[in-house]
Amino acid sequence: MSCETLNSALLPHLEGVEKDQICVVADKCLIRHPMWTGAQAPHEWPVLWLEVTEENKSLDTVSRIWDFLFEHAITRHGLLICIGGGALTDMGGFAAATYKRGMNYINVPTTLLAMIDASSGGKTGINYRGIKNSIGAFAVPRATVLCPEWLTTLSPQQFLSGFAEMLKTGLIDSSALWNSLLQYDLDKMDTTSLFPLIADCMAVKQRIVAHDPQENGMRKVLNFGHTFGHALERKMQVPHGYAVLYGMIAELYLSVTRLNCPRELLQQLTRLMLQYYGKPACKCSDRDQLLALMRQDKKNEHAVDINCTLLQAVGAPLINQSIGSSDANEALDYLFSL
Ligand code: GLY
Repeated sequence: MSCETLNSALLPHLEGVEKDQICVVADKCLIRHPMWTGAQAPHEWPVLWLEVTEENKSLDTVSRIWDFLFEHAITRHGLLICIGGGALTDMGGFAAATYKRGMNYINVPTTLLAMIDASSGGKTGINYRGIKNSIGAFAVPRATVLCPEWLTTLSPQQFLSGFAEMLKTGLIDSSALWNSLLQYDLDKMDTTSLFPLIADCMAVKQRIVAHDPQENGMRKVLNFGHTFGHALERKMQVPHGYAVLYGMIAELYLSVTRLNCPRELLQQLTRLMLQYYGKPACKCSDRDQLLALMRQDKKNEHAVDINCTLLQAVGAPLINQSIGSSDANEALDYLFSL
C-alpha cells in the first residue's frame, strides 16, 4: 500500500493517456510539502495551485479549473489529478465530471478524512447558496492513490477528524474492524500501523458504493452519525470528523434506547470522546436550532421528518429511521450531559 514516491504511485494509473493531456490541481498549502518538493513528484505536468476553504468551494473555483484545462488544450480524453483534502478533491472531481461532458480524474487524498471518505465513491460537488455540497454529480475517479507520507504532517486535530470517520466505518461494518480500531494507539498516532486499517475502511466503503453507487438505499449506512453531525458542525464550527463523532454518540444513544443496540458501544465511543475529542461546546438551549438544521438535511425524504441511520448492533445498521422531535431532544440532552 505504501508508495515510495508520488510519481511511482501514479504511474500505473496513467496508461493510455497522452503525456500532454495530464494536468494537476492541488491545494496551495501543499506547495512546500516534502511529498511535492521531493525529486520524485510529478513536476512535468502543469499545476493549478488553489487556496482551498469551504467559502471558495464554489462555482468560481470550478470555473478556474475549467479555464486551466482549456488553456492547456485538454480534451475529454485527458486526465486531471486532484491532490488535496476532501474540499479540493470534491471540486476537482466536479470540474472533471462536467468538463467537455466528463473527463477522467484521479484523487490523491492528503488528509486522513479525505482518504477515508471524500476521495472514493464518486460524490463530487461544490457549496452553493450557502448550502454544503448542494450542486454536484456522481463521477467515480479512475483511481484513488494513497500515500502514507502525506499523513506525517497532519495536525492531531486533522488526524482525529479522519479517525472519527474510521470509527464510523468500524461501527457499520463489523466487530473485527471496530475492535481493531479500538486497539489502535491514538496517543502515538503512528501512520505505519494505521495504514492497514485505512485500507480496510476504504474497502468497506468501496463494497457499499459498488452495491448502491447513487445512494438510493444501502449507501445511506455511510451517513451514520451525520444527521446530528451535520447540524452540530454548522452550529459549532468544529472539524467534520469531530461533529460526526458527536453525531454518532447521539445516534448510538437512540440505537441503544430504541433498537436495543448493546450499550457497550456507546460507552466505548463516549470514552474515546472524553479522552481525545473533548465535549461538544453546545448546550440544551441550542436544541431548537439544531433540530431546525436537522430538518433541512438533504437526507430527509419528507420535510417534517428527521432521517437517520441507526444501529441494531455493530455491523448491523438500519437506514431510513425516522425520528421525532422528542427522540432528537432526548439524544441531544444525553450528548450534552456527558
Ligand atoms: N460520505 C458518504 C458517502 O460517500 O456516501
